[in-house]
Amino acid sequence: MEKLVIEGGKPLSGTIRIHGAKNAALPVLAASIMAEGTHTIENVPDLLDIHVMLDILRALGCRAELRGDTVTVDTSSANSSHIPEELMKQMRSSVFLMGPLLARFGKVQIYQPGGCAIGERKINLHLQGLQALGAVVEESGHTIVCWAKRLKGADIVLDFPSVGATENIMMAAAMAEGITTIYNAAREPEIVDLQNYLITMGAKMIGAGTDTITIEGVPKLTPTTYKVIPDRIVTGTMMMAAAVTRGNVTLENVNPAHLTSVTHVLKRAGVQVTTDDDIINVTCHTRPKAVERVVTAPYPGFPTDLQPQMMVLLSLAEGISIIKETIFDGRFKHVDELSRMGADIRTDLNSAFIRGVPRVYGATVESTDLRAGAALVIAGLAARGTTVVEQVHHIDRGYDRIELLLGQLGAKVSRYTEVASKSLLS
Ligand code: EPZ
Repeated sequence: MEKLVIEGGKPLSGTIRIHGAKNAALPVLAASIMAEGTHTIENVPDLLDIHVMLDILRALGCRAELRGDTVTVDTSSANSSHIPEELMKQMRSSVFLMGPLLARFGKVQIYQPGGCAIGERKINLHLQGLQALGAVVEESGHTIVCWAKRLKGADIVLDFPSVGATENIMMAAAMAEGITTIYNAAREPEIVDLQNYLITMGAKMIGAGTDTITIEGVPKLTPTTYKVIPDRIVTGTMMMAAAVTRGNVTLENVNPAHLTSVTHVLKRAGVQVTTDDDIINVTCHTRPKAVERVVTAPYPGFPTDLQPQMMVLLSLAEGISIIKETIFDGRFKHVDELSRMGADIRTDLNSAFIRGVPRVYGATVESTDLRAGAALVIAGLAARGTTVVEQVHHIDRGYDRIELLLGQLGAKVSRYTEVASKSLLS
């Protein structure tokens, strides 16, 4: 089991380059299976989730490898549409493969991804969308089998602008017969990236980034080369790290337009944020001010994936702040751990009431999920003393060697691997 040991109290300073977006690369890699041949996907981060997706593509018969930040995947030998349960368990985003496999093979077998630390994570909107396109869905136990002789375009209204459901429907509709219109679609930048990738493969669609996406199905797609967008959540995480340590940090290879709502809240907290073409600078020399209310919302609202990190900043701000989590029903698991470091937070259903404290103190804390883990690292950077963050594998799902990234900014973060002590004693 690995853990990070963090010596807190040091302001971050310097410049780092942000890696490509996990949540753009995953659906793009899933979509590659729709076109036979060799695809080259660039700016792909070296993360656990990416390696699981590559293992799934290999299990489906593809050849796939990551060299540096470039993935080469040859889908011509794909010969299966059954996602292995073991791999499905490792990453619920495997559900993104339903649309592409239905489009390519006319059938797919997956398993209910189940909930995780942040909430129930249902996939009913995915299944309803695929059924609207003519797929038959059969659930027995936790196995889900979908098949369709021919997918046919349809008008689909999403009850909620689900990112994954929007992406699955876009991919299935790209090769369906006729026109599909998705209403109340998710508007995240990763949706726009997927549309751009599909268009380079020959798909016909418009509207990604708005709440209405229109797709005209085509019979065939061709393999292509594509570069995914920078990771806006890793960018936002590093912005918060700079702010809580009262540092001065420049982030390169970013898209400031993807972080408008985050920049707005940071400025309300008194943090200086300046942007240029693909650069963001964050400077904070005084104690941040409380922000009366931060509400997570679908893009372009404040991202749920930066809620834990923002909670750390507000825990150290002057005054009382409220965070309301509207996307997931269980995304406050980091509150107990932050409280053990001295934060003063009370939660009631999906609201957190935060009374800022002048400092937090190092402690041994446990990551419960990807972004909560990142938040605990940020808290450790600001804390007085030493913080040990356990269950680091959660963090590695979304951050490429976070200790090296922060180390480039002067942080003292080391990774340790705990050897199973009982084997040494027996
Ligand atoms: C994507 O998850 C991201 N993951 C998540 O990032 C992100 O938090 C989320 O979008 C919201 O922005 C990837 O892109 C790989 P949703 P996704 O479908 O697609 C409910 C991270 O940290 N819902 O928009 O699963 C669901 O329960 C991860 O990188 C249904 O009810 O998110 C949740 O409450 C965490 N039925 C809400 O919608 C459905 O069929 C948002 O889910 C689908 C979703």
